[in-house]
Order: sequence, then C-alpha cells, then structure tokens
Amino acid sequence: METVVSGIRSTGKLHLGNYYGAIQNFVKMQHEYNCYFFIADLHSLTTHPTPADLHGNIKQVLVEYLAAGINPETATIYLQSDVPEISELYLYMNMNAYLGELERATSFKDKVRANPDNVNAGLLTYPVLMAADIIIHKATKVPVGKDQEQHLEMARTFANRFNRLYSKEVFPEPYAFNYSENLVKIPGLDGAGKMGKSEGEGNAVFLSDSPEVIRKKVMRAVTDSGPTAENQEKPVEIQNLFDIMKVVSTPDTYTHFDNLYNSCQVRYGDLKKQLAEDIIIATTPIREKISDIANDAPYLRQVAKHGAIKARESAQRTLKEVRETIGFRSF
Ligand code: TYM
Repeated sequence: METVVSGIRSTGKLHLGNYYGAIQNFVKMQHEYNCYFFIADLHSLTTHPTPADLHGNIKQVLVEYLAAGINPETATIYLQSDVPEISELYLYMNMNAYLGELERATSFKDKVRANPDNVNAGLLTYPVLMAADIIIHKATKVPVGKDQEQHLEMARTFANRFNRLYSKEVFPEPYAFNYSENLVKIPGLDGAGKMGKSEGEGNAVFLSDSPEVIRKKVMRAVTDSGPTAENQEKPVEIQNLFDIMKVVSTPDTYTHFDNLYNSCQVRYGDLKKQLAEDIIIATTPIREKISDIANDAPYLRQVAKHGAIKARESAQRTLKEVRETIGFRSF
C-alpha cells in the first residue's frame, strides 16, 4: 500500500484553503492509503512564537484534524517535534541541499520580501525539513495545496540526490496530490492573493467561524460594479468568488451564477448570500465538534501519544537504513 504524508503548520486556526487544499483529501485518503498526518510545529518556529502561542496552536491543529474527520485509529496523527528522527534526517539532507537552490525557492523569496528582518537559516532550509518529513516514511503521495508544489519538487530533488550519492534506492519520489485533477489554490476574500492565516482580517474564513461571522466576511468580500458586456472575462476579485464557489457549492449552483454573470444579470448580493450559506453547510459539522474535542484533554493526550509511537516506529526503520547507508555502522 502506498504511503501518504502531509502536515499543517501550527500557526493558528485552519481556514478553507487548508481544508480544500489539504484536509479534505486527508479524510478521504485515510481509507485508501497508509497515512501519516502531522502538526508541523518545528516549521512554525521560523516566526518565533511565544511558548504559550505555540502550545495553543499545536492543540488547535490537532483538534481541527480530529473535528474534520481524521480518525487516529485509521491514520497516524502526530506532532513533528515528537519524532526526533525527522530532525536527524533533516541534518543529513542539509548536506546535499545547496544554497543557490534554497535561495531560489519562491516561498523563501516571498518571506524575505515580507519580513526582511527575520531571514533566519530555518527559513532557508524549510524545504529540507519538509523533505525529511516526507521521506522519513518513504511516502509517495503528499496531499497539499498548489502553493506547496515547488517544495515537493525540491523534496524529489533531495531524495534522488541522496539515492545517487550512495547508489542506492533508499527513497521513492514523492508527488503532490489532490483528488481533483489539479492542485487547488483557494483565494482570499480581499480580492488579492490566496487565503492565508496571516493575511489581513477578513481575508480568510476559518473552519471554526460561526455562521454570523461567515456571512459578515463573505458579504464584505471585494467585488466590482458588475459585468458590462456578455461573456466578459471576470476580473480577479470576481473570479476569486467563483473559485471558492467551485469547491464549496454544488455544480448546479456554480453554473447558475456563472450563467447569470455571462448574461450580465448577476447580483453580487445574491451570489454572496448563496456562497456564505454553502460555506456554512460545509463547515458546520466540523465547527460543532471543535469545542467538545478541545475540552477533552485526556483524549488529545492519548491521540498524540499513540501517534508518536506509531510514527517513530516507521521513522526509526528508515533512519536505521539511512545511517547504515551513510556509513554509520557498528564495529
Ligand atoms: P501550511 O500550514 O502553510 O498549509 C497547510 C496546507 O494547506 C494548504 N493551503 C492551501 N491550499 C489551497 N489554498 C490555499 N489558500 C491554501 N493555504 C494553505 C497548503 O498547501 C498545505 O497543504 N509546508 C507546509 C507544511 C508542511 C508539509 C510538510 C506539508 C511541512 N512539512 C510535509 C506536506 C508534507 C505548509 O506550508 O503548511
């Protein structure tokens, strides 16, 4: 059975982008593959969270994984920091990752631009740690959003380079995965870029948002004054709303509003109302479970402990092979 690995950083509440780019696939894949889903708490250290914030955010992701329907009996759920073998593999992989290729990574360049005062080495080697996360379980499928495509390409490069260096097929090639044909990128509500945890307030709809908050955010989404000619190309902010509708609403709803747009009869108020209700339908089952799970500390502890044991077993197997391949052998 193929192995699947994916993770989400512990940087805050999960939003629709995380759901449609990643979690929705996790929930389905757990029944078809050998799955490892983790909380990327080491990756979230690049922005120096306070211990209290870090701890709270780790718990938030764990709770939302469970609320979304990942079953800890079916998939292995764990904290990245509970599996020290990942950090050791990261160290080995760093020896074969070159400064030039790391500096060229789009996400690195974006982060340097956004925050020039915090260009730390952890940020530079972020894709190496991500590769270690994936290949530690010899995964071949990695359910992620479109923004992670380049990181997956780098993971393949690092895995292949290791294999070549030691003339041994230790790691298979991992590929980004989504059940739909293409990887998805859920846009934000502000008319600009993608939906993100750290974008401006109102840009993201969180899985834990109440129906009132969802309605308010969607109704405030940026629009224009409407199409002026039939079958006109949609401007970015309108296309964004349609893109969200495509994943959240039924195909009939999407087609209905697309036809209205193309015949210049669309009323954005109606479109937004429908979109908000469809988001509420999609997120309510998750939201309703969040607080119950969050209040069950013994359960969360047990899930994390059980997951760490299972993840370490797999990681130790790989690391033993890696150490022997490198030349760390007993006398
Ligand atoms: P993070 O926390 O930024 O995002 C978690 C997942 O959510 C997806 N995502 C989106 N998908 C579609 N549209 C969006 N607007 C959107 N925003 C976020 C991301 O693509 C991702 O799948 N580097 C990873 C975490 C990670 C990881 C790994 C993933 C660390 N190690 C190993 C897979 C395998 C990240 O940035 O997560």
